[in-house]
Amino acid sequence: MDTWRLKKTGFDLTEAARDGNRFLCANGYMGLRGTVEEADLAQFPAITLANVYDRCGDRWREPVNAPNCLFVRLFLNGRELKLKDKQTEGHSAEIDYRHGIYRRETDFGSLRIGSERFASMAEIHLLADRLRLEIEEDGELEILTGVTTVIWDINGPHLYGAAFTAGEALSCRAVTGEKGTVVAAAQCVQADFDADESFRQEDGCLYRVLVRRVKKGEKLTLSVFGAVCTSLDGETPAQTAKDICLSAKKEGFDACLKAHKDAWEGIWARSEVVLEGDESAAQALHASQYHLNCIAPRHARNLSIPARGLSGQTYKGAIFWDSEMFFFPMFVYTQPEIARSLLRYRIETLPGALAKAKEYGYRGAYYAWESQEGGAEGCTNFNVVDVFTHRPVRTYFRDKQIHISGDVAYALRSYFEITGDRTLLEQGGARVILECARFYISRAACRPDAEYAEYADVIGPDEYHERVTNNAFTNQMARHCMQSALKLEEIFGDDPAFLRSLKRELNYEKDWELLKTLCGAIRKPVKRDGVTEQFDGYFALEDCSLETVRGRLADPREYWGGDHGVAGTTQIIKQADVIAMMALFPELFDDEEVDANWAYYEPRTEHGSSLSACMYALTACRTGRLNEAWDMFMRTASIDILGGGKEWAGEIYIGGTHPASNGGAWMIAALGFAGLTMRNGVPEVHPNLPKQLKRLRFPITSGGRRYMVYADREGGRVELL
Ligand code: BGC
Repeated sequence: MDTWRLKKTGFDLTEAARDGNRFLCANGYMGLRGTVEEADLAQFPAITLANVYDRCGDRWREPVNAPNCLFVRLFLNGRELKLKDKQTEGHSAEIDYRHGIYRRETDFGSLRIGSERFASMAEIHLLADRLRLEIEEDGELEILTGVTTVIWDINGPHLYGAAFTAGEALSCRAVTGEKGTVVAAAQCVQADFDADESFRQEDGCLYRVLVRRVKKGEKLTLSVFGAVCTSLDGETPAQTAKDICLSAKKEGFDACLKAHKDAWEGIWARSEVVLEGDESAAQALHASQYHLNCIAPRHARNLSIPARGLSGQTYKGAIFWDSEMFFFPMFVYTQPEIARSLLRYRIETLPGALAKAKEYGYRGAYYAWESQEGGAEGCTNFNVVDVFTHRPVRTYFRDKQIHISGDVAYALRSYFEITGDRTLLEQGGARVILECARFYISRAACRPDAEYAEYADVIGPDEYHERVTNNAFTNQMARHCMQSALKLEEIFGDDPAFLRSLKRELNYEKDWELLKTLCGAIRKPVKRDGVTEQFDGYFALEDCSLETVRGRLADPREYWGGDHGVAGTTQIIKQADVIAMMALFPELFDDEEVDANWAYYEPRTEHGSSLSACMYALTACRTGRLNEAWDMFMRTASIDILGGGKEWAGEIYIGGTHPASNGGAWMIAALGFAGLTMRNGVPEVHPNLPKQLKRLRFPITSGGRRYMVYADREGGRVELL
């Protein structure tokens, strides 16, 4: 088995959306969905851009898809060569995880096509595709390539005023409706055959038409170079895109491919986990690391990663807590400059978080639940559409999921603890922690007859139970955030003037005193037989099985949460909540307690979010439930191979790749199976290998030093490189 590839034979239109995710090529700047060159909109082809958003009318703001500059349509003797909606033979597609290359082969009878294409890791604006055509029938071959603005959008259209220019490099320049951002795409071709070339413009598309008489047995090669630039990158995006295409053409496909592959080799040298003992697991881990690595914003110093990566416009291209809790760990240990970018995004979007807190009548920083550019809140008050009434359902993720600010602070502190690098805290990180802690001061409530302070009316990670009080996870995040604020005194012990002047600037003296008392006064969770109650009153809810609750669904796409959801009145939860807290704060809970909670909550968890299994696996590693840990690992790591995960929340499409699971797979392998931890800035390993695994080996970076971590059945070691 080649663990670096995923190949699929046959074609099924109903699977095309999933294949687009499975075979995604991306380079952090853009994502090219894994659809065939000639795909029409029914297959959801897209080139999704990072950090360019647009709102069309009163629809949801979402990332913009660029004009498609990589399509190729083939006609032989007047017949268009297209895949049948369903065919079991004559077609295969694959993704090469090592080098981020999509390949397809199709036998149309009269012509065979083989292609390989990539989103260049070496030149982030460049897309390249090489097609090899084998002719099986004499006649006239017509090839249509070009640039089109007829593209798939969920909440579009987003591109207006398309202006085309023909030439050796043809181009399209359009502007987004909301902010007038220029999005330009260019394309040029290189053929090893002669053909008559002409241009044809129609319906938002400029075609380059190549026509040639062909003979059976002829073999032709055509390379297509596409480039995308926007006015966020520079002043003349259309010209730049054309220049990039032309210089790629000059260098040639092979040279571009080599530069791209070398860049990927560099990424793997820093991050590859070598897993021995189970080939399917090794393949799944390669898939996970590929999918997370290919969407990392290597070109920017202050960008984060959307919850569905660059696989499309799902989830509004928004940044969730997934970034800090699930993507951040792999990056901070392997490519800390990417972890810094994720955190700088939060530092720079602090104004948005301050504004959101104010909007709700609080002080400090309340980060957006679904954060878009500039920290704008993308989450609406009606985030789900009811499948029965087709009406929007009032959801409270935006208003009540207050753990997000604590999640941001948690990652900022972890960054310092893992890397020993204080500069991020100096450059705005400390300010973020103080403002988040201030938010928790102002959001806390104290009933006159209670001895504790509490957080009422919140939503924890388990979104099926809305507006609950004293969610254990949320309370712990708030407490930890406030402790992190106080901890700054120790972190800046050698430079007290820094914190003093920051506190003065933020007018923080009174809040500093409040922090000291509030931290210890936040309500501790209720426990029953060692099991932490997820929130006040949880144990009193109907205790029934997952099957019972599933059996109550009247429609498979129905939303389980909210006022009328089937889970709300029961103990069935969407995803790890208490267990997520135990995974993130291992030092606060002993093994016995973790195990008791695992045994209680796991059967009551739907794992309706791809974020769930990873947290269960991490805690299972610790308590020796290695079979369960293995199952959860496979479930997490295979998600973008199998195309699993929920695709609908009510009537809203939420499919795409699953970067949180991708990051989760690294976390389980490195932090769970290998048992990697940092003790006083030094990495240590305490392996918990399931029986399926022989050994693991992976590089990490910490404190400017590079290490190789080894874990096998006898134990583990860390070697300085
Ligand atoms: C989960 C959230 C997650 C979001 C994006 C939701 O289904 O419940 O925890 O942040 O998806 O991945």
